[in-house]
Amino acid sequence: MVNPSVGATSQWSCPSNIALVKYWGKKIGEQQIPANPSISWSLSDLKTTTRVTIKDSGNFGFEFVLDGKAKPSFEPKLHEFFQRIMSYCPWLESVSLRIESSNNFPHGTGIASSAAGLGALACCLVDLETPMAESLDWQKVSFLARLGSGSACRSMFSKPAVWGESTAVEGSSDLYAVEMQGSIHSSFSNWEDCVLIVDAGEKVVSSTQGHSLLSNHPYAAARFEVASANLSTLVSILREGNVAEFIKIVESEALQLHAMMQTSIPYYLLMRPNTLAIIEAVWKFRAETGLPLCFTLDAGANVHLLYKCEKKVDVMNFVESHLLTYCESGRYLCSSIGGAPIRITNE
Ligand code: DP6
Repeated sequence: MVNPSVGATSQWSCPSNIALVKYWGKKIGEQQIPANPSISWSLSDLKTTTRVTIKDSGNFGFEFVLDGKAKPSFEPKLHEFFQRIMSYCPWLESVSLRIESSNNFPHGTGIASSAAGLGALACCLVDLETPMAESLDWQKVSFLARLGSGSACRSMFSKPAVWGESTAVEGSSDLYAVEMQGSIHSSFSNWEDCVLIVDAGEKVVSSTQGHSLLSNHPYAAARFEVASANLSTLVSILREGNVAEFIKIVESEALQLHAMMQTSIPYYLLMRPNTLAIIEAVWKFRAETGLPLCFTLDAGANVHLLYKCEKKVDVMNFVESHLLTYCESGRYLCSSIGGAPIRITNE
């Protein structure tokens, strides 16, 4: 590790990710440790690009701009992140940073950008402290990203990423994500995610607040057990190629996530009527056509449609003819599954 000098700069893009088995709940009294293991696919076409420049030496400080504009609303989360990582990157104590970020997806789409954002930032920091390294220390990148936003630690890998200890995944850890080792069945290569924008507004309850409500949740213990079992089953499914079983777990996980929100104390709803309308339309379409597509949800009203690329024409015809009516301003965004952070040079 070196102390980067004033003027040193690093720029990375990082994909966001969509969880197949959800992280929802943290271990009480610990720092960003998940209550159950989760697994995700990264979304190569929904990404954040961030450049970090060492502006000055002296005391720690940072300025943050998103798409060229100062973003004071992001500063508290970033402050907390830097406080948490300071002991792992002690050189930060005596520098001030300029952080310039941009997302390649529009603002106000309700797409969580914290995974891609914190992921890209962690890449830049590890790059700055190890400028001569041939490749980044991905374990450290994932470890740091986790301290910014739990789901961000899974954005580093093009194969499925597992975060949280599980006997089903060798080397898995609560502290960072690992890439699923070994071969993945060809049934799961070349999938896509079409994110249907149901509600582009601010969420009424943030993910961080939502996690905290699990600490006195009547069903939490059962949920954590089911999630761990689902993770083990899903890992086998990804190896063996059973798409029908994949769909059952992925859809059940999405509904369990929202069921936990709806049964939190206090309870709340992030689904909208159009979220449900889309889910029902997907079930009807699947029953009629037998096409392998399914939905998942993150902590919001938008619906992620997952499908094999080879069925894209059929799925997009269905989206255009039956689902756009449920999307805010008819908006949706598609991304390939996979992808990892990329260093951006000479720009
Ligand atoms: C519903 O990673 O946003 O997307 O760790 O508090 O930043 P913090 O939470 P965050 O939670 C994401 C939860 C989820 C499910 C998932 O990605 O596994």
